[in-house]
Amino acid sequence: MTITIIGAGNIGGTLAEKWKAAGHDILIGARNPGDEEILKWAQGIGARVLSIPEAVNKAEVVLIATPGKVVADLAASLGTALSGKLVMDATNMAGPLGSAPGFEALRKAGADAVKVFNCTGWENLADTRYGNDAVDMFMAGGSAEAKAKVTELVKAVGFAECYDMGGEDKVAILEGFALVWIDLAIFQKMGRGIAFKLMRR
Ligand SMILES: NC(=O)c1ccc[n+]([C@@H]2O[C@H](COP(=O)([O-])OP(=O)(O)OC[C@H]3O[C@@H](n4cnc5c(N)ncnc54)[C@H](OP(=O)(O)O)[C@@H]3O)[C@@H](O)[C@H]2O)c1
Repeated sequence: MTITIIGAGNIGGTLAEKWKAAGHDILIGARNPGDEEILKWAQGIGARVLSIPEAVNKAEVVLIATPGKVVADLAASLGTALSGKLVMDATNMAGPLGSAPGFEALRKAGADAVKVFNCTGWENLADTRYGNDAVDMFMAGGSAEAKAKVTELVKAVGFAECYDMGGEDKVAILEGFALVWIDLAIFQKMGRGIAFKLMRR
């Protein structure tokens, strides 16, 4: 797949490297596509750097991994470019608990948006293994077709399962779930080497 990543920081940069290694074509949509640091890093992993609108236009799938608070402006600035496009939204904290204004802005722009990769630390994307087990991922929102592609991309990173939490009405729950990880890892001082795995019988 041709995957465009907007926000190649901890989350976006890690996923870019993982997906490139899995054989996908990676485009980085950058605010400053001439920046030497990002060009050097992208060259190192075999990705191309373009302006954000160019990279979105060429994408089959888009990942948004910017600060949550910039997503609404970003979506608005892209006009109709996101319309009908599969967009994975990994962002958090665009608004208060129980809301998901970034995701709503992506939907308003017409994106087939799926909230995913938001509920665990970036280190768990870099290394999904805990002993003999692999970490689980969770998603919400988006069409069935979008979720099938997202599941493929989640598994390509090394996650054991990608659980579907349901439709757009569950996106705010998934943002809240991210706060559970943040609370345990940071405020309860368990450290960032923790992750969620579903148990069943
Ligand atoms: N860190 C985690 O463990 C973690 C886990 C789950 C979810 N998240 C969420 O994932 C998102 C990214 O987190 P991160 O830790 O990867 O952040 P980060 O390392 O700070 O990277 C943010 C990226 O967003 C870009 N960016 C900032 N403002 C932008 C704008 N207005 N338009 C386009 N690009 C912009 C930055 O590019 P420039 O170089 O141009 O500044 C940078 O590449 C956040 O919403 C965060 O809440 C993070």
